[in-house]
Amino acid sequence: MAILIKNGTIVTASEEYKSDVLIDGEKIVAIGTGLDSRAETIIDAAGKYLFPGGIDAHSHFDLPFMGTNTAGFDTTPAAIVGGTTSVIDFTPQPAGMSLQDSIAKHREEAIEGKTAVDYSLHSMVMDTSVPGLFDEFGPLVKAGIPTIKLFLAYKGTPFNVDDATLYSALEAAKDVGMLAMTHAENGDIVSLLQQKLIAAGKTEPRYHAESRPPIVEAEATARAASLAKAADAPIFIVHVSCEDAMLAIRTARQQGVDIFGETCPQYLVLDVDYLAKPGFEGAKYVCSPALRDKSNQDPLWRALDNGWLQTVGSDHCGFNFKGQKEMGREQFTGIPNGTPGVENRLAILYTYGVMTGKLSLQRMVDAFATAPAKFFGMYPRKGSIIVGGDADIVVFDPAYEGKISVATSLHGVDYSAYEGFDEKGRADKVFLRGTLVADGGKFVGQLGQGKFIKRQPFGLAYQSRMSR
Ligand code: URP
Ligand code: ZN
Ligand code: ZN
Repeated sequence: MAILIKNGTIVTASEEYKSDVLIDGEKIVAIGTGLDSRAETIIDAAGKYLFPGGIDAHSHFDLPFMGTNTAGFDTTPAAIVGGTTSVIDFTPQPAGMSLQDSIAKHREEAIEGKTAVDYSLHSMVMDTSVPGLFDEFGPLVKAGIPTIKLFLAYKGTPFNVDDATLYSALEAAKDVGMLAMTHAENGDIVSLLQQKLIAAGKTEPRYHAESRPPIVEAEATARAASLAKAADAPIFIVHVSCEDAMLAIRTARQQGVDIFGETCPQYLVLDVDYLAKPGFEGAKYVCSPALRDKSNQDPLWRALDNGWLQTVGSDHCGFNFKGQKEMGREQFTGIPNGTPGVENRLAILYTYGVMTGKLSLQRMVDAFATAPAKFFGMYPRKGSIIVGGDADIVVFDPAYEGKISVATSLHGVDYSAYEGFDEKGRADKVFLRGTLVADGGKFVGQLGQGKFIKRQPFGLAYQSRMSR
């Protein structure tokens, strides 16, 4: 059944223009005028923007982490109502298991039949004692998984790897078109600072930030850039939280390193003071890297607007306050790290970026959808509004005004990190491959509707690197 979205303003990463969009089946089949006779259904989008469906390349659904699990894919309707139609979720490698088996396990146990969004997976190197780990990169890329994540941040947990592992992974990855992604914090120093703080009786959530100061992130980011340079491989730094880490990326890029970075809504609008909220409330805001001094926010917005950082991911972690964040009541090191936010990415970018003049609409669309599609190999199928692409479209109502609240959230979590924040504009209608899946802020799709998206290797989907 052909659907015509009429009278809207299409916004892409480079343009903004009034035109109609014709959808047939799962695809966009025409953009222009005079298309009415080809449509069975007409949707009037006068006064609305049409954005490409968002791609959140940083989610953690059903992640076993710090002794507990995040909310599962049955909560992905939250993504849909927030204008995100695809996620790329991180796949932990259980001890002793190959990377390919880990991917198969995550798909079978956590995702298939449950997801409301289209999805892909990033692989993760955790147990380096598994033989032939790096030989799996080629087959993974062929299977549509061209990204691998390595953590430098969590010493003493199964998530951590050392510099030699990162370097070897970078070398192996570049040969097969795999893009390595890194959580860059100096895990050794974090561990040392944690021990010192706890020994001094500094156990409350606010000391989480003192245990992970900006310098541990900036140092590890610069080190990761150096290793990428040494290996002559591209590298992508996830969840950049502070000006110094952003500058480390910018400097390395200016020196010719193929280094790229993502920031997250929490680092753009929340700050370190949230960790000091009374009554253990600060635990809600414990994530890594930690929330920073407010002075970091404008440099991050500027970096996004200028393209020094390319994408915005949510780093969504659906931990409840009750029973999960509370695991760290005795000491902050027991608080599961991460905040929920897959529903709020567009709202924060539009309200606090576009509406304040810090971010152009085009850069917002790029960071929200197009750049993740290009970096992570979903483009041109996803990430823009183009003929032949999947009809993943957000009909965005800029006139809407509301507040973000746990009361209306679909995160399936007992708090919102953005409780009471203004929401200017919202995804009024969301189409996933041509099917209406959100209407008026309500989820009208079905769990299980999401499909696995086979991605292309890095460099193929993104032949022309962004200008330095
Ligand atoms: O605090 C965070 N970011 N938790 C999720 C795991 C990670 O480091 O991405
Ligand atoms: Zn991380
Ligand atoms: Zn993460």
